[in-house]
Amino acid sequence: MAFGLWFTLFELLLKLFLILAFVKKGSAGITSTFTRTKWQSFDIPLDHKVLAIPNGYNAPQQVHITQGDYDGKAVMISWVTADKPGSSRVQYGTSEKKYDFKADGTVANYTFYNYKSGYIHHCLVDGLEYETKYYYKIGEGHSSREFWFQTPPKIDPDSPFTFGIIGDLGQTYNSLSTLEHYMQSGGQTVLFLGDLSYADRYQYNDVGIRWDSWGRFIERSAAYQPWIWSAGNHEIEYMPDVGEVLPFKSFLHRFSTPHLASRSNNPLWYAIRQASAHIIVLSSYSPHVKYTPQWLWLRDELKRVDRKKTPWLIILMHVPIYNSNQAHFMEGESMRAVFERWFVHHRVDFIFAGHVHAYERSYRISNIRYNVSSGYRYPVPNKSAPVYVTVGDGGNQEGLAGRFRDPQPEYSAFREASYGHSTLELKNRTHAFLNWHRNEDGQKVHADSVIFLNRHWASNLRRRRLKKDDF
Ligand SMILES: *[C@@H]1O[C@H](CO)[C@@H](O)[C@H](O)[C@H]1NC(C)=O
Ligand SMILES: *[C@@H]1O[C@H](CO)[C@@H](O)[C@H](O)[C@H]1NC(C)=O
Ligand SMILES: *[C@@H]1O[C@H](CO)[C@@H](O)[C@H](O)[C@H]1NC(C)=O
Ligand SMILES: *[C@@H]1O[C@H](CO)[C@@H](O)[C@H](O)[C@H]1NC(C)=O
Ligand SMILES: [Fe+2]
Repeated sequence: MAFGLWFTLFELLLKLFLILAFVKKGSAGITSTFTRTKWQSFDIPLDHKVLAIPNGYNAPQQVHITQGDYDGKAVMISWVTADKPGSSRVQYGTSEKKYDFKADGTVANYTFYNYKSGYIHHCLVDGLEYETKYYYKIGEGHSSREFWFQTPPKIDPDSPFTFGIIGDLGQTYNSLSTLEHYMQSGGQTVLFLGDLSYADRYQYNDVGIRWDSWGRFIERSAAYQPWIWSAGNHEIEYMPDVGEVLPFKSFLHRFSTPHLASRSNNPLWYAIRQASAHIIVLSSYSPHVKYTPQWLWLRDELKRVDRKKTPWLIILMHVPIYNSNQAHFMEGESMRAVFERWFVHHRVDFIFAGHVHAYERSYRISNIRYNVSSGYRYPVPNKSAPVYVTVGDGGNQEGLAGRFRDPQPEYSAFREASYGHSTLELKNRTHAFLNWHRNEDGQKVHADSVIFLNRHWASNLRRRRLKKDDF
């Protein structure tokens, strides 16, 4: 009896193995059917300790940093004081408790409906050394607080670096799980793909209150390493019912971007260079058709990319251009129509997007042959095209986008609707490892893991090595 059962099981496993082996041989993509324990997607209550206000009168809270210049020798430090403006000074130095240097920043506040924000400080700390640990102190007297960060290595084609990639985070228990898993990943900078706090799901003064709680929520990571911001639809906050019609008002007051350093006229689109990467941030919800400022800026910024210095060309945006989920299907078409040609021509390595609450990775495909009269309707493989990766599964209160289009389109290589984050490990000018980690798994497990060859330098590699890169 027992033997019979084991035999049936064995037979089943063998069949499964054969099917899997067969699937792997073809170029068909994988729709992962991993079944996950779904925690309910509600926001962490305001009185929970992970959203706690730090002790002390007017103590700095919501501390976060981002790169402050083009090349990684400056950091913008931001925080909020609740009771009075206080000081916008940052004291810093290269050994603990020894603050030899200081910088002074700015303070501002804003209203949203009847909510009055705290005093929002932004302080640029520049002239830093590469690859150096800095300690910093903000706030006054007994309420002051201390943090640290590490500057990136110098701009160099073989500078290794690990980026974390997080999108659509929100502030639920799933968001907390994503953040905690990310913090153990070894990531040095977060590339954030838009849709930050989901505060716009609230009404009236609670919108501002949930931005504040989100600022405190991410501090455990964002005070210690740069988060590179891109804006999503949840940052627009167009709310005429309560008299709020200025798009991105909360986002722009709270989060700084180094847009002037890349000659952008708008904080919503800009570029930075870090280690061996040139990172371009685009705004899905700002005009991008021909001759708009974003279009003109991107055209010029792409010309400034020097693959001999920064081999890895990475673009961030909120709305994915290739996505085979039922959710937000084809919402990226307007951007694809204007920019895809450039992405292929400039041999962009990766395009990361969020918006769809799932993970998906594409093959290298392009649809640049298509126009309204060409008759070419389908994307085709193209070795010059980027890999499109959607990492919109940070874990916000809207839940997962669990319904994928069936059958899986040929451009889709791997897709799964689970909460998680990605890491991109740039090893040297030729090799990068892209990993996706789902929150259910132990720290070392990668549910999707691929080695990529650089689009600029791969062509100099020998033919047999190229074979690896069939993705
Ligand atoms: C900013 O703070 C000052 C000083 O507390 C206050 O007078 C002003 O009304 C505030 N502005 C806004 C827009 O809330
Ligand atoms: C692939 O991209 C190149 C640009 O690098 C372009 O010239 C070529 O036409 C593309 N191929 C297809 C099939 O679209
Ligand atoms: C559209 O495609 C057709 C056929 O490939 C081509 O002749 C034409 O030049 C294209 N038009 C534009 C504006 O790209
Ligand atoms: C680049 O990194 C890859 C992966 O770690 C390694 O196999 C390869 O040898 C490295 N190339 C050089 C030139 O060091
Ligand atoms: Fe979104």
